[in-house]
Amino acid sequence: MESALDWHSALALLDWQVELGADEAIGDAPVDRFAVAEEAPKKPKDNVPDQPVQRQEVDAIDIARQAATGADSLETLREAMAAFEHCALKRGAKSLVFADGNPAARVLILGEAPGRDEDREGRPFVGRAGQLLDRMLAAIDLDRTAETPESAVYITNVLPWRPPQNRDPEAEEIAMMLPFVQKHIELVNPEVIILMGNIACRAGLGKQGILRLRGKWAEAFGRPALPMTHPAYLLRQPHAKREAWADLLSLKARLG
Ligand code: URA
Repeated sequence: MESALDWHSALALLDWQVELGADEAIGDAPVDRFAVAEEAPKKPKDNVPDQPVQRQEVDAIDIARQAATGADSLETLREAMAAFEHCALKRGAKSLVFADGNPAARVLILGEAPGRDEDREGRPFVGRAGQLLDRMLAAIDLDRTAETPESAVYITNVLPWRPPQNRDPEAEEIAMMLPFVQKHIELVNPEVIILMGNIACRAGLGKQGILRLRGKWAEAFGRPALPMTHPAYLLRQPHAKREAWADLLSLKARLG
């Protein structure tokens, strides 16, 4: 298509749109919304009965449970998740973001869902929040690239697909992916879990209210779990880093 814009202006315009959050192409060609409005189907007359809607009811949670139960290794779990077609988020995402780190680690970090950077790279916590997370872990001698279980961490998320525009995951999405999270934790078998933020608390504890829950050891997925404020929150509210530091020290003490 011919454009009146030169290359530099077009790139600047694109950068600006990405900055505003319009970072996903929904179609290959632009849509003229005025023309679409004219072509929109006419509302049926009031005296014409509606056609019965054919609904295919599937119990996505049950299907997820069966798929997760059948997985006996991290590789087969990843395959089962990749084959799961009932979560609409999958269709809008580039990657299935499964996990990062060392599966032999004593600590498993459960985050929320991939953002734009994670979706691009296919690894959890690689954007700004992830870089802060790496620095927080380094402060207590933990590192996702470490080979020894004592220094290592394993990182995964409640949802493996990026929600559009980074919106909060819906209760239904969390519920249908929960059997996979449970199986994931069972296979990694960590000694302790860090629940990063509200969505991880909803999945692991069935409740949220991270500012009340943080710093108090609880039990999630049958093992000790420490809720912490999410690094994305710490980027927005740097004053909360003081409490996050206390929580890191509590984790360090727990690990002995
Ligand atoms: N936030 C999360 O909770 N998980 C990620 O992977 C990235 C950002």
